[in-house]
Amino acid sequence: MKLLVVCLGNICRSPMGEGALRARIAQARLDNWVSVDSAGTSGWHAGDPPDRRAVACARRHGVDISGLRGRQLQPADFHDFDHILCADRSNLDNARALAPAGLQERAVLWLPWAGVEGAAAIPDPYYGQDSDFEQSWALVDAAARGTVQRLTRNHESGIIQP
Ligand code: 4NP
Repeated sequence: MKLLVVCLGNICRSPMGEGALRARIAQARLDNWVSVDSAGTSGWHAGDPPDRRAVACARRHGVDISGLRGRQLQPADFHDFDHILCADRSNLDNARALAPAGLQERAVLWLPWAGVEGAAAIPDPYYGQDSDFEQSWALVDAAARGTVQRLTRNHESGIIQP
């Protein structure tokens, strides 16, 4: 099972999402079965480390994302990943515009897909403050916990095979 978290720049929401998801997957001992990556719909920050505020926020929650580097989403990612988990509606629209024929449905809005109620989108904290990054972390971690629940449920029922 391969999961890709996607936002616009791949320096704020999706690296935090990748870090939170890796941590929750390891905690659930699913890390032999599930792999996680992240990407941006833009290439503006390709090769860059995450935003320092995102690194600091993740560190406050016990997760080190300082080694991640930005990369741009590519059409081939639709072949390589089972689910492409988008932070907001515009990320979803931009991702699906890249999808090879028949693979559009692999891109989804992460929060509703993970069963998180309330917000449908993870707001972009890039122009915000530390409190906005904390709000984003709370949402990506809720999505990460919901993802583990969803995978565990489907795994146990045999719908998804390793
Ligand atoms: P992200 O945030 O999509 O959560 O990584 C952004 C990062 C950079 C920019 C916009 C959003 N930017 O305009 O460079």
